[in-house]
Amino acid sequence: MNTLLKELHAYHHEMANNISQIKKLLKKIRHESDDASDCQLLFEMLNALHGYAEQHHHENEELIRRALLTTEAPIHPRILDIERDHQAFARIAGQLKMLADTTKDTSVIADTIEDFIQKYYDHMESEENIFFPAADKWLSNSQWLDIKHQWH
Ligand SMILES: [Fe+2]
Repeated sequence: MNTLLKELHAYHHEMANNISQIKKLLKKIRHESDDASDCQLLFEMLNALHGYAEQHHHENEELIRRALLTTEAPIHPRILDIERDHQAFARIAGQLKMLADTTKDTSVIADTIEDFIQKYYDHMESEENIFFPAADKWLSNSQWLDIKHQWH
């Protein structure tokens, strides 16, 4: 597999680990406590889901996605959805930030986070199973070089 795709894969792996930590904490908050310090920790962990690394990851994927659209590759509808997903994540992250500041209702916060996590898993799955393999198959060496020059 192309090395840039490997890098994206490794990032997904790291995110999946972060998400399982978040899920554990969510469970604790829902069932045992809604301790303010647990909520604080939760919001800190969520920062990993919408920080610079995440933004750069999406931008890198978009470089590849746009290149793929210029090839003869048959384009699966899930590949077209990816851009919209990236925008949706930014929007949900904004909502979470707002919730963190305005609500004390942990079940509302937990629902929003769970919704986010579900979407994130689905998104990673379509990238890994549909988008990355298509890019690996269809992009030329010169396209990869071009992407590498713009890579974050
Ligand atoms: Fe991704």
